[in-house]
Amino acid sequence: MNILLLGSGGRESAFAWKISQSPLCSQLFIAPGNAGTGAFGKNVNIQATNFAGIREFVLQNNVQLVLVGPEEPLVKGIHDYFLADEDLKSIPVIGPREEGAKLEGSKNFSKAFMRRHFIPTAASASFTINSLNEGLSYLETHKYPVVLKADGLAAGKGVLICQTVEEAQTELVAMLQDAKFGEASSTVVIEEFLTGIELSVFVLTDGHTYKILPEAKDYKRIGEGDTGLNTGGMGSISPVPFADAAFMKKVEDQIVKPTIAGLKSDHIPYKGFIFIGLMNDNGDPYVIEYNVRMGDPETESVMPRIESDFVDLLLGVAHENLAEKELKVSDKTAATVMLVASGYPGTYLKGKVISGLDNIRDSHIFHAGTTLEDGLIKTSGGRVLAVTSLQDTMFDAVQQAVADAGRVYYDGRYFRTDIGFDLL
Ligand code: AMP
Ligand code: GLY
Repeated sequence: MNILLLGSGGRESAFAWKISQSPLCSQLFIAPGNAGTGAFGKNVNIQATNFAGIREFVLQNNVQLVLVGPEEPLVKGIHDYFLADEDLKSIPVIGPREEGAKLEGSKNFSKAFMRRHFIPTAASASFTINSLNEGLSYLETHKYPVVLKADGLAAGKGVLICQTVEEAQTELVAMLQDAKFGEASSTVVIEEFLTGIELSVFVLTDGHTYKILPEAKDYKRIGEGDTGLNTGGMGSISPVPFADAAFMKKVEDQIVKPTIAGLKSDHIPYKGFIFIGLMNDNGDPYVIEYNVRMGDPETESVMPRIESDFVDLLLGVAHENLAEKELKVSDKTAATVMLVASGYPGTYLKGKVISGLDNIRDSHIFHAGTTLEDGLIKTSGGRVLAVTSLQDTMFDAVQQAVADAGRVYYDGRYFRTDIGFDLL
């Protein structure tokens, strides 16, 4: 079958690599893709939010399955767009409809969902401009630090951790009154600060049953030792040693099962991924957030560990027979090191020629912010390349990924060399 994958990052490169190995896939298209995805399929110059362009392409190229990588097209309703169109409605889309995508698109919605279904999460309250004064009073009696979250999508920047009442009150005013994050902060969730270690858990569901995919740990900060500014993710590891069978059973019983059951009882059909960002607080899991897509760079560590035919799993979601499919996972460890551009996560250099991609010894290279220009592969984003190594032990995986990351070069190249070391 012909498959269309939407997106252009490292996550989509890892998806494309995995999908291209399936005998069920005759042709893979990636829209818009990057300089690396062209090795696994055909790049198509259509943005993932250009629904009309996607419609035309799907019909002209006999696309029979659409996999949505990023959240934006889902939150904007691409799945509903397909269902509402006579010519498209029989073509399965992997990714939730607009209502389900609110789990990521609205923090207020997802907190209410968790409360309604008794899913462990930080205590919270929501405020708008009309309840600004109540919000300011609420902050006076709150424990510190406190977490302020813009309700809507804010390009990963809408979460503020405030240490004092004064700081939190200033930020609340900035968000509600001065639209610090635009429309996204017209509602603000004020939340208890959770302590512990973070974990990314991934669930694939057809709306009835589910498979828990390999879990991963994401390294979010720019500097060694997880210090400095927050980024989209500087590396990842899978599996995660503290996510042992006992912990994962708690995650399944207390979070995954009530989430799937809650979607069903709320009459929210859901076909796709649920990414549960959680905190392990002394052995107990608490949901920090839901995302309605896979994580990046977690996908670059998760895909290499999946041994089953990934397209067959996606078809299980599409046809609502996921329970009949087998998920086979490698017990090796995957370590991913992200190569980023100088300046990232602030203003960063672009258009630098990348060399040394053939020097890699025992890792996969998943392109993220790269583009092909005059036959040269150049940097075009803050996160440029993901280097993933799959090895028998975590130590070997980390060492190999770091060594291979050092074999690729471009002006201003930067990467962390300590991914996974906190777990060793
Ligand atoms: P989010 O945009 O919801 O992913 O939040 C970004 C990051 O902020 C998370 O990955 C956590 O590291 C941190 N964070 C969010 N909510 C909390 C919380 N309630 N307690 C502690 N840290 C949090
Ligand atoms: N790695 C975190 C995310 O994809 O949101």
